[in-house]
Amino acid sequence: MKLTPKDFTLEQKFKLLTGKDYWQLDTSSGKIPRFFMADGPNGLRKVQEVNGEAPNTGGKNATVSATAMPSLSTIANSWNKELCNLDAQVIADECIENDVDVLLAPGINIKRTPLCGRNFEYFSEDPYLSGTLACAYVDGAQGKGVGACIKHYCANNRESFRFHQSSEVDERTLREIYLTAFEMAVKSKPWMVMCSYNPVNGVFLSENKYLLTDVLKGEFGFDGVVVSDWGANTSRYKTLLAGLDLEMPFNKNAFDNLKQAYEQGLISEKDVDRAVQNILNMVEKAQTARKTRKVEWNKQERHQKAVEIASEGIVLLKNENALPLKSGKVLVGTPNGFAPISSGTGSAKVQTDYVTTPLWKLLKGINGDKVEYDWDGYQKSIYERGIDYDTILLCVHGAAEGEAYDRDTLELNYRSIDTIRKVKKLREYGKKIVVLVYAGSAIDMSEWIDDVDAVVYCGFGGEAMDEALAKVLTGKVVPSGKIAETFPLNLESTYCGSDRSDGFVEEYNDRVFVGYRYYEKYNVPVLFPFGHGLSYAQFEYSNLKVEKISETEYNVSYDITNKSNVDAKEISQIYVSDLNAMVARPVKELKGFSKDLIKAGETKTVSVKLDKKAFSYYSTVYKKWHIENGTFEIMVGASSQDIKLSSIIKIELPDHTQNTKEIVYC
Ligand code: BGC
Repeated sequence: MKLTPKDFTLEQKFKLLTGKDYWQLDTSSGKIPRFFMADGPNGLRKVQEVNGEAPNTGGKNATVSATAMPSLSTIANSWNKELCNLDAQVIADECIENDVDVLLAPGINIKRTPLCGRNFEYFSEDPYLSGTLACAYVDGAQGKGVGACIKHYCANNRESFRFHQSSEVDERTLREIYLTAFEMAVKSKPWMVMCSYNPVNGVFLSENKYLLTDVLKGEFGFDGVVVSDWGANTSRYKTLLAGLDLEMPFNKNAFDNLKQAYEQGLISEKDVDRAVQNILNMVEKAQTARKTRKVEWNKQERHQKAVEIASEGIVLLKNENALPLKSGKVLVGTPNGFAPISSGTGSAKVQTDYVTTPLWKLLKGINGDKVEYDWDGYQKSIYERGIDYDTILLCVHGAAEGEAYDRDTLELNYRSIDTIRKVKKLREYGKKIVVLVYAGSAIDMSEWIDDVDAVVYCGFGGEAMDEALAKVLTGKVVPSGKIAETFPLNLESTYCGSDRSDGFVEEYNDRVFVGYRYYEKYNVPVLFPFGHGLSYAQFEYSNLKVEKISETEYNVSYDITNKSNVDAKEISQIYVSDLNAMVARPVKELKGFSKDLIKAGETKTVSVKLDKKAFSYYSTVYKKWHIENGTFEIMVGASSQDIKLSSIIKIELPDHTQNTKEIVYC
């Protein structure tokens, strides 16, 4: 029978709005079936239950063992929607196995500064790429009957002071940069949206009626449950009025606060029922899903999928005839210890029991009959022994990344950088130096980039990292990742630099010029531009056609030829530039992309559709997305800085939709 708010007493309803414990909804003494939430996004992090209770115990043995999937930052580097969808399906399988209804993922905040400690949990600095992948992730999980919860809504772009520092963002920037991925993802109908801890423009998100009710539920049409970030508690009755349906985890003060506010006439039963109804709708979705959902893959199969996903997220940043490894003697150096770090820490850290095999042994297993592999873990001996090898692979790490803190440097950790400093001297003896960077965010490589032959940005590949890497290094898999964030020359050349605000207000004075939009507008040189990544194949782009479908929709098609003798995937990117806008717009913006497998010698025609958002900006005057008539350049690139083809179009909408562009003297 369908439950409605009428089936509950007022007290039961208050309880329903505040959770049962750390991870579950209150059951109203059994009226509502069990409903369990657990963390993602990089795999399942579910706290062990103790007699039906789900505490916040944390710690090593307190969470169930699950597949440690690649981080969302790594998945974004694959630019592969299908793999992103697959990733969420794998995690959903584990949710089903562990009786979880909603996965608290994906994280879709924008990478405004590369220092943000949780960037590894997010996709990109670009809203379109983030939103596209977010949809794929939500569809992947929900297609298997597990609810997704997009987070953290919104403008939560740093970890320092995340509980109270207000993000001061102008309306246009909010819409174009920080809300777009949410707006896009809402179209996939996620069951939940998690609001962030921080205030925006002085009002905590949980109490921000404008952002929760007017924009998210009203304009974007979100019809699921808005949940607080865990402990993002202000005054429960105010958050209820603002549009926050569920506060998590259980907190007695919230219950008392609702009761008191009701008695004082500050909230009505109608206000309570609105949120209760949203929760009941979600419970019903879960019950329907539970009837058919089933585990599809076993542990080994899930692991194999993690390998497949991780291998497409690896980015070959530089390669001067050092890779793939085909012959000779190779020394793998791990100056940071035996096992590489392949995840950040915090609520996204997954407890896996997978026993990884060292990289050098994996390499040996792939082409050990042609290449001789060996390993060394000590800085001094890597250098001393390196003289006997042809190639030295160095596994290096950046500063620690995780929830609740930001990095304070973009440089590698001391042990890593010091090893490169020593080992690079071996180049004088003709040795090839290949640096393998395990990190979840951009790294400053300025000091050593010219002293090494190749750089592979591994990302955080989870438990599959080294298996995926071994395939890419040996050429079994041709690298096909491209960075979903700009790699700046150094921290000082980023907009935010090392500036940490005052802990109270963070002014978003960079406005819409975030990531590559910033470097391009101000001509700031970068180490590797947004969208950069090399392959073992070579591609040639030709034959661009931009065909009008309607006044504001175009079809862009072009050919890509694989000029090499290896089959490989290529990510092509479509950028749009408004050449005569009346407002300050980015030099160009990503509005479409495609990832295609192109066989050796083959030519493939790729087509990408551009819709009206591709040409619009958010007008704070009209309070909506607006297209200005005029000339637009459509560019097809292998990266944001490597534009291969371009074409000009003219948009001519009816006069009444347009403001006058020139002064008319009478
Ligand atoms: C994090 C969320 C997470 C929640 C539950 C919060 O501190 O910000 O991302 O889902 O805890 O672990």
